[in-house]
Amino acid sequence: MIETSYPLALEINSLTKEFSRGKTTSKALDNVSFNVEQGDFFGLLGPNGAGKSTLIGVLSSVVKPNSGVIKLLGMDFKTYWRQCKMAIGIVPQEITFDPHFTVWETLKLQSGYYGLRKNEKWINQLLDFLDLKEKQNDKVSSLSGGMKRRVLIAQALVHKPPIIILDEPTAGVDIELRHKLWNFMTELNRDGHTIILTTHYLEEAERLCNKVAMLNHGKLVALDSTSNLLARYSKERIKFFLPPGQSMPVDFPFKYSLLDNGFYSLDSDSPDSLRQVLNALKDAGLTAEGLELGKANLEEVFLRITHDNDNI
Ligand SMILES: Nc1ncnc2c1ncn2[C@@H]1O[C@H](COP(=O)(O)OP(=O)(O)OP(=O)(O)O)[C@@H](O)[C@H]1O
Ligand SMILES: [Mg+2]
Repeated sequence: MIETSYPLALEINSLTKEFSRGKTTSKALDNVSFNVEQGDFFGLLGPNGAGKSTLIGVLSSVVKPNSGVIKLLGMDFKTYWRQCKMAIGIVPQEITFDPHFTVWETLKLQSGYYGLRKNEKWINQLLDFLDLKEKQNDKVSSLSGGMKRRVLIAQALVHKPPIIILDEPTAGVDIELRHKLWNFMTELNRDGHTIILTTHYLEEAERLCNKVAMLNHGKLVALDSTSNLLARYSKERIKFFLPPGQSMPVDFPFKYSLLDNGFYSLDSDSPDSLRQVLNALKDAGLTAEGLELGKANLEEVFLRITHDNDNI
């Protein structure tokens, strides 16, 4: 059999990180395993404190895990750390810079850190892409928050890494910049870069990410393609409206809500739910019109999954 040599972009196996506070320890990452394929636009989601930045901290070698194995493009993270460092560009959640340097100097320095001396052409392109040209001689400390975030992104990309990890790149940025960053990330992904993104804007993840992992209390609670996650939850939502003169009886056996547009909406965990609801409507002498299986959005999926997981 022919073996294809197409390594995964990222393999995470049984990653655990405990933080100690006094005598108590808590697991920021609890036996987390998942893979990211090359070319994926991968969303790493989870509520505050779920462990997303800790995981990214491990990948930037800022956080030392207690246990677990990580491979980047098939290379063991510990053994091939130099090659791994070249393979990823990380945009951290926290904005920190040396305030003494200008934008241009910051990017030159970062290039030097990767041993790239003649990097001016790419730096200029990055400045163009990110609309930073006019600010290139300004001190980073004098820039606005949104501008600083762009510099942070440029900084992570100076060595053209095949894998790009962005920890909340659009947090607190205005709508215009958010759209620019979406376009920029989409272009990078189209050019073959694997992108891993954390965000609290679920609409953003739904729009951009082909796959999604959800963390909650350090545990992986969902891992699937975005379309599968949406389809799974859509099936459980039924919508319809009633013709004039008809209304739902008070003793209707299923819980429902009346939407602003006059549609009734029902959630059910049973795959037979559609048939059961239709029977109940028929028994009540009602005619459901405009019947559809509702579209779930990623925000609802996220709330359902993290809520279910909290109740275990
Ligand atoms: N250096 C540290 N020392 C002690 N505890 C830490 C440290 N860093 C993170 N933690 C804890 O680990 C847990 C996960 O934090 P983390 O920053 O990874 O969450 P997150 O998913 O990135 O959250 P957010 O969405 O708010 O950015 C939290 O309970 C946090 O308090
Ligand atoms: Mg975080």
